[in-house]
This record gives sequence, structure tokens and C-alpha cells, in this order.
Amino acid sequence: MNRDIVQQQLAFVLNESDFSDVLGVGHKGKVRDSYTHNGLRFMVASDRISTFDFHTGCVPFKGQILTKMAEFWFERTRDIVPNHLVGVPDPNLTVARECRPYPVEMVVRQYITGVTTTSMWRQYAEGARTFCGYTLPEGLRKNSRLPEAIVTPSTKETGKGKHDRSVSAEELVAYAGLSPERFQELSSIALKLFARGSAIAAEAGYILVDTKYEFGEDESGNIVLIDEIHTPDSSRFWLSETYEERFASGRDMDYYDKEFVRLWLSERGLTEFGQEEERSRIPPDLFIDTCLRYAKVYEDITGRVSDFATGDPVPRVRNAIEQFLKEME
Ligand SMILES: Nc1ncnc2c1ncn2[C@@H]1O[C@H](COP(=O)(O)OP(=O)(O)O)[C@@H](O)[C@H]1O
Ligand SMILES: [Mg+2]
Repeated sequence: MNRDIVQQQLAFVLNESDFSDVLGVGHKGKVRDSYTHNGLRFMVASDRISTFDFHTGCVPFKGQILTKMAEFWFERTRDIVPNHLVGVPDPNLTVARECRPYPVEMVVRQYITGVTTTSMWRQYAEGARTFCGYTLPEGLRKNSRLPEAIVTPSTKETGKGKHDRSVSAEELVAYAGLSPERFQELSSIALKLFARGSAIAAEAGYILVDTKYEFGEDESGNIVLIDEIHTPDSSRFWLSETYEERFASGRDMDYYDKEFVRLWLSERGLTEFGQEEERSRIPPDLFIDTCLRYAKVYEDITGRVSDFATGDPVPRVRNAIEQFLKEME
């Protein structure tokens, strides 16, 4: 992906769109706008980037990269668990089966890291050793590899300024109304997905550091993988090549994910809710650099070229929706 093309696309980022006239009332998420229509969920991936749970700006082509990367991973994990994917009629549009989501994010981690006060690394540094039923060994440093991949679920909280909360398996079962058996099934699936993701990422020269999965139930009560999978929004990716040397010298990792933006903001103290004014002055270069990183990890892992659609995405997505609806009839 070429910097000039990204620069030009800054004028056409997909921030707000509204397709309710064709799809009915929608729901605006932090990143995607979803519409339920005829049992299907139409998810329009915007270019919005959310960090620390707040809207931070728009990254050119981000919606397209995320949609196509998730599509790649859905195809490569279908044998582990059924997923919601029906089709990708446009690189900014996922059509999925509408499911009943479990209000939980299944987080899987193979490394201990993070920059916020609630991150696993900061809590460990302050003395915490037990996380969601696992006791971590002494002597870990920031970005240490864990003895095994662990599942640390958190509740999916909605509403402005509400952060997702990390909880124990027992709390989760009580909160989310999940039976302990179902929770065990989800954990076991999450670990299998993570192992597959790590293996494929490793072949491409990346470490899948941690990630989160969302699951739901279809009308027959079957478990379905929903939302997105192994994208740079939902996962951390580090370059394998530089890991050892950076870890040994205590330097930051080579981030190919949202951590790149989080770090930039945290170095400037911009991690709190209500700093819209300061955030509106973030230089466009940060978003261009983020796009280039997202595009690189996409290309390396999928082996595809990121020749994404340029120009105004709104009429193009609208056209794809109308076409899809026509073919459904
Ligand atoms: N197949 C599905 N059925 C029902 N809900 C889904 C499905 N896939 C994803 N979702 C939900 O759609 C939303 C996606 O938009 P997003 O911008 O990630 O929202 P959020 O701000 O809630 O994270 C999420 O709330 C996710 O749980
Ligand atoms: Mg989300």
C-alpha cells in the first residue's frame, strides 16, 4: 500500500453513513454500523478507530482491511467452529447470520502486556498474580511469553464511558447467564482458534499476542463465532523477528495493531474520556501510519495485495446493499 494513496483517501474516510432507508433502523457500534434485515445482519465497517473505548479518529481503508482480514480468518477456522459469515458483497460490508450474542468477550493471551492501568501487565507490575483463575509465575517482565495461552473473559458492557470488565469464570457464568458447561465449551473453542491463529501468523512472521472472540447462538442453540476474528482491532500482532532483541533490551515491540495508536496517545497523556478537543488535533500522519501498518499485516498474513477501493465508499456500499437485497428476493 502506497503512502500517497492513503493520503488521498483521508478525504474519503468512512466515518458516518446511514442505510436505514434500505435496511431499517440500525445500531451504531464503536466501529461498525449494523442493520438487522430478514434474519441477516448487515455490518458496515467504518474507518473509525476506537482506543481506550473512545472514538479517536478515522484511518483510511481501515474498514476494508478489517472486513477482508476477518473474512480470511473465518474461512480458515470454519473447521473449528461454525461462524456467522454469509458474504462480503463490498470490502466495507459483511453480511452475517443474526445471532443471540453472549454478553462476553473471550480474551485469549499468550503474552503479558498493555499500557493502561487496567492492562494485565500493569496489574501484574502492581503485585497481582491471579487472573481469572490462573496464577501467573513470579518474575515476568513486560511482554513476557506466558507458560501457556490463557482465557481471561470480560463482560461486554455497553454505554458511553463504560469499559469492559475482566471477571472470573464464576462471575461470568452468573452475569452472562451462561452455564458452566457452555462457558467451558467457549473457552476450549477460543483456545483452538488462538492456536490456529498463532500458527498462521507465525508462518507470516508475526506473533499473535492476544485477541478476543465473541460468540453467539443461532436459532437452534448452536454456538456460532460472530463479530470479527484476528484483526488488528481485536488482536495484538508483533513482528516475530524483532521480539527477542526488543524484549531483552526492554524496548517497545513492533506493533501491527491498535497498540501503535494507544502508545502514541498514552505518551501524550490522551487516554481519558472527555479529551475530544485534544484528540481533534491528532496529526493525520498518525492515521496514515496506522493504515500502512494495518495494510502490511493484512498483506503478510493473507498473502493478498491490499488494492482497496478508493474514493467515496458510501455510494459504493449502498450499491452493494441494493444489489444483495435484489439477489435475495
Ligand atoms: N452475528 C451477529 N449477531 C449479533 N450481533 C453481532 C453479530 N456479529 C457482531 N455482532 C455485534 O455487532 C457489534 C459490532 O459493532 P462494533 O462496532 O464492534 O460494536 P461495539 O461498540 O459494541 O463493539 C458488536 O456489538 C457485536 O457484538
Ligand atoms: Mg466491537
